[in-house]
Parts: sequence; structure tokens; C-alpha cells
Amino acid sequence: MLTNSLDAAVAQQAAKQDGSAARAVALVKTYGKGDATVRALDGVTLEFQRGRFAAVMGPSGSGKSTLMHCMAGLDAPTSGRAFIGDQELGDLDDGGLTDLRRERVGFVFQSFNLVPTLTAGENITLGADLAGVAVDRSWFDTLVAQLGVADRLSHRPSELSGGQQQRIACARALIGRPELIFADEPTGNLDSNASAELLAFLRAAVSEHGQSIVMVTHDPRAAAYADRVVFLADGRVVAELRAPSADDVLEQMKRLGS
Ligand SMILES: Nc1ncnc2c1ncn2[C@@H]1O[C@H](COP(=O)(O)OP(=O)(O)O)[C@@H](O)[C@H]1O
Ligand SMILES: [Mg+2]
Repeated sequence: MLTNSLDAAVAQQAAKQDGSAARAVALVKTYGKGDATVRALDGVTLEFQRGRFAAVMGPSGSGKSTLMHCMAGLDAPTSGRAFIGDQELGDLDDGGLTDLRRERVGFVFQSFNLVPTLTAGENITLGADLAGVAVDRSWFDTLVAQLGVADRLSHRPSELSGGQQQRIACARALIGRPELIFADEPTGNLDSNASAELLAFLRAAVSEHGQSIVMVTHDPRAAAYADRVVFLADGRVVAELRAPSADDVLEQMKRLGS
């Protein structure tokens, strides 16, 4: 019995690391009509593995945010398919997509997106509170301690630095232990010290807790924290690096002329 449950736990852990966290198959997204049509995604096929930290890079307008939105169920592709785990997003109605985003995906945005009238602590638990789900208090305590915001929980966002606000946003994304976190330029509004702290935290969430993260960035130093970097240009995947240094990333960007 014990052996069985141990085997099951080991198998579950292996599945956690080797399975697919999210997948895109021939994703196309166009905006506008006729002469004004913009092909934001031009046939993207891509898989993000569980328990890994992936970065998506590319020049402004290359489709990074559109890719994230279509893969996270925030926007519908024009054609192609997107999956979170084994769930094809196109098979879900609006209610199903809302549930999936709430229960299985976490988000971190460049502009923090905290609710200004709530305290930092209330922002972290807002999703659980709205869903009427109990918050895992020991996980909450672990997160705020690791993020160094335990003494800031009664402050409102306007009373916090940008770095602190983004760390609260990370705690909010992680508190429900989502299968996957999408972060869209999470360090875009942070100075280099606050960026380094945030990236070290995201790296640790992957390495120590098996969190899966996909991060859009255009900072080579940020991308160097990832296990894998995917490069987009004109809505297509044009290159990929494994465990690159910041110099490797910069070199690849130069080669792509971005
Ligand atoms: N809501 C929208 N309406 C029209 N065009 C859009 C919209 N969102 C994005 N685009 C266009 O799609 C392309 C890709 O945009 P985006 O995914 O935001 O790129 P990135 O995040 O890499 O800067 C750009 O040409 C952009 O102008
Ligand atoms: Mg963007």
C-alpha cells in the first residue's frame, strides 16, 4: 500500500516534470480586415514543458503578447489549436475558459495589475476569496517570506515600490499553485536590482517548487534565467536556445537583427 502510494507519488513527480504544460499547434492570429490585416501570429507550433522556465523573446510587435494571450485562453486564435495540459482551449466555452484561467493558470503583467483599494495581503488572496476557496496559509507564509514582503501585507499598492508591487503580483500568481504561470515582461517596469530579485524568485519557484513558467521579455539578462529561450519574429518562431547566458542571447538577437 505504502509502496503503491510512493510509486504513485514518484510517477506523479515524473509526469509533473516531463509532461506538457502548454502547447500551440499552427496558431494563427490576425487582427483587422482587408488591406489593414495584421498577422500577429503566423503559424506558431510550440510546446512548453512542465517544471521548466521558458522565455519568449522578439522585437516589439513580433507577437509575444498575442502568443501568450492565445495560449492562456485570454484571446481566441484565428486558427490553430492551443492546449493547457491536455485540455484544448477551443473545446471550452467562455465559462470553461474562465474556470481554466482561474484554477490552472497564473498571470504576472508588466504593470502589476494590483487592485489599488485592497491591501497587499488582500490582493494575494483575492482570487481564492472570490472563488470561496480556502487559502493554504502555510504556502502563503512561505511565499511572502521568500518574496520579502511579509511586513508589507497591510500596505496598499500605492504605498509600495514597483519591485514590492511586482513581488505581491507574483505571490498572487503562485498562491493557487497553478500548473503554469505566464509572465508578460514582468521586469519591464523595474530597475535592475528589483528585476534581479524578481527573476531569482521566479527561478527558485521553478527549481525548488517545480513551477512551470513562461516569461515574455526583451531583456537578455532576464532571458538568461530561463532554461530555454524561444525567439519570435513577425509572428513566427525563428530560433531557440537552451540554458543560454545573457551573451548567448544577445548574440542570437544580433544574428536576428533585432
Ligand atoms: N488588439 C489588437 N488590434 C490590432 N492589432 C493588434 C492588436 N494586438 C496586437 N496587434 C498587432 O499584432 C502584432 C503583434 O503584437 P503583440 O503580440 O502585442 O507584440 P509584442 O508583444 O511582441 O510586442 C503587432 O503588429 C500589433 O500591432
Ligand atoms: Mg507585448
